[in-house]
Amino acid sequence: MGAGERRMRGAPARLLLPLLLWLLLLLAPEARGSPGCPLPIRSCKCSGERPKGLSGGVPGPARRRVVCGGGDLPEPPEPGLLPNGTVTLDLRNNIISTVQPGAFLGLGELKRLDLSNNRIGCLTSETFRGLPRLLRLNISGNIFSSLQPGVFDELPALKVVDLGTEFLTCDCRLRWLLPWAQNRSLQLSERTLCAYPSALHAQALGSLQEAQLCCEGALELHTHHLIPSLRQVVFQGDRLPFQCSASYLGNDTRIRWYHNRAPVEGDEQAGILLAESLIHDCTFITSELTLSHIGVWASGEWECTVSTAQGNASKKVEIVVLETSASYCPAERVANNRGDFRWPRTLAGITAYQSCLQYPFTSVPLGGGAPGTRASRRCDRAGRWEPGDYSHCLYTNDITRVLYTFVLVRRGWGTPPALLRGHREGRSQPNGQGEPGLWAAGLCLSSLPVQSQEPAPFL
Ligand SMILES: *[C@@H]1O[C@H](CO)[C@@H](O)[C@H](O)[C@H]1NC(C)=O
Ligand SMILES: *[C@@H]1O[C@H](CO)[C@@H](O)[C@H](O)[C@H]1NC(C)=O
Ligand SMILES: *[C@@H]1O[C@H](CO)[C@@H](O)[C@H](O)[C@H]1NC(C)=O
Ligand SMILES: *[C@@H]1O[C@H](CO)[C@@H](O)[C@H](O)[C@H]1NC(C)=O
Ligand SMILES: *[C@@H]1O[C@H](CO)[C@@H](O)[C@H](O)[C@H]1NC(C)=O
Repeated sequence: MGAGERRMRGAPARLLLPLLLWLLLLLAPEARGSPGCPLPIRSCKCSGERPKGLSGGVPGPARRRVVCGGGDLPEPPEPGLLPNGTVTLDLRNNIISTVQPGAFLGLGELKRLDLSNNRIGCLTSETFRGLPRLLRLNISGNIFSSLQPGVFDELPALKVVDLGTEFLTCDCRLRWLLPWAQNRSLQLSERTLCAYPSALHAQALGSLQEAQLCCEGALELHTHHLIPSLRQVVFQGDRLPFQCSASYLGNDTRIRWYHNRAPVEGDEQAGILLAESLIHDCTFITSELTLSHIGVWASGEWECTVSTAQGNASKKVEIVVLETSASYCPAERVANNRGDFRWPRTLAGITAYQSCLQYPFTSVPLGGGAPGTRASRRCDRAGRWEPGDYSHCLYTNDITRVLYTFVLVRRGWGTPPALLRGHREGRSQPNGQGEPGLWAAGLCLSSLPVQSQEPAPFL
């Protein structure tokens, strides 16, 4: 009796499940793809495509256009899932980063392939196998900076290609493309613009001469970051990781590390961990250096140098290592013949900087001036101020103060200051903003740099 009852109670549930599934399918037809579109991908839509010339040819198999525009496709859809007779495949504006060899194999009718605005870095001739009728290829807006010779070899019908990217480097590595395109009557879209080197920036690749694609100039990298990028203050015993990422420009690209200009090697005993460089997407190379137990010796300049056969490029960062008992230099005001300087409370071992120009009546921002216009003062490791270096600041007195102001006002507003005009026109009183002391001194302004059209030499 027990067994029979259980069977009977179970029956409705068994009936309900398929019913629910069927209902779900009925309510969400999109999930199955539209009729004639076997793709089980929600963001892909299929539609019929009319032949361009309506000349009375024999109607071939249905010509189809597939657009996958959801924005989140990580790779192209399986070719086997695309309808027969797909002539246009539009995969632009997705997040495709890898395209497997043979990813489009079987799309024998495909004429237009749009892969623009994705994240593709690696392309080889294998990528485009099995596309004998492809006429137009758009791979612009991806991350590659160059293309290997022969990458389009499997595309015998190719007529137009757009390959502009924000990293596109028009150098000797891309030189093969021009004669190749010419021989094959391949048109490089006029939208294919060079990004690097700067000498060719925004020029159309197709309009260049072969001889312009060279690797002789200074090395220019589309990417070169060192983290940390700004001066770091760390305590003895801390762990400090550095990461350097740069453009990968072929197998001669190397990242090397330097500390105070001496090469750095990995040394586990000393707590210097140097990982093998990694290459990402055929476009970037990264290297990581970790100081696992930092000591005072690590103070100074750390440098990440990228080198290729063409040359070197460096990024540096200053590291200040403090003993754990670090102290501070107190805030202090120093007035001298170069100005009035207010040195803030500063950590031991740090050099503080102050702008030379600190006049309350200038409205022009002066902070963060070029290093040459700053005074510096170091707080030593024991927390005592060293004498400051004010040599980059001009001597101050009322006259030079006023001149500074004039030059700044003049540069800021584009017209000579009222005071200057007043003087030239022989008026006795300056127009409100001058200092009487200047007039008492009977200074001849016309002989001073304020009058000249050139910027004053000290600015
Ligand atoms: C697509 O074409 C292949 C051969 O070209 C054929 O075997 C297959 O049945 C076709 N599929 C459809 C859905 O027409
Ligand atoms: C390639 O794609 C980009 C972005 O989708 C577009 O702006 C450009 O016009 C296309 N190039 C060609 C030749 O159609
Ligand atoms: C041009 O193409 C032909 C075959 O189509 C080939 O034999 C020749 O080597 C090519 N020339 C260049 C410069 O690539
Ligand atoms: C680097 O690439 C060039 C061609 O691009 C090749 O001739 C050379 O053997 C490669 N070197 C290494 C170490 O892989
Ligand atoms: C690049 O750096 C290496 C050592 O790291 C040096 O031997 C070489 O001369 C440098 N090349 C240039 C062009 O600065």
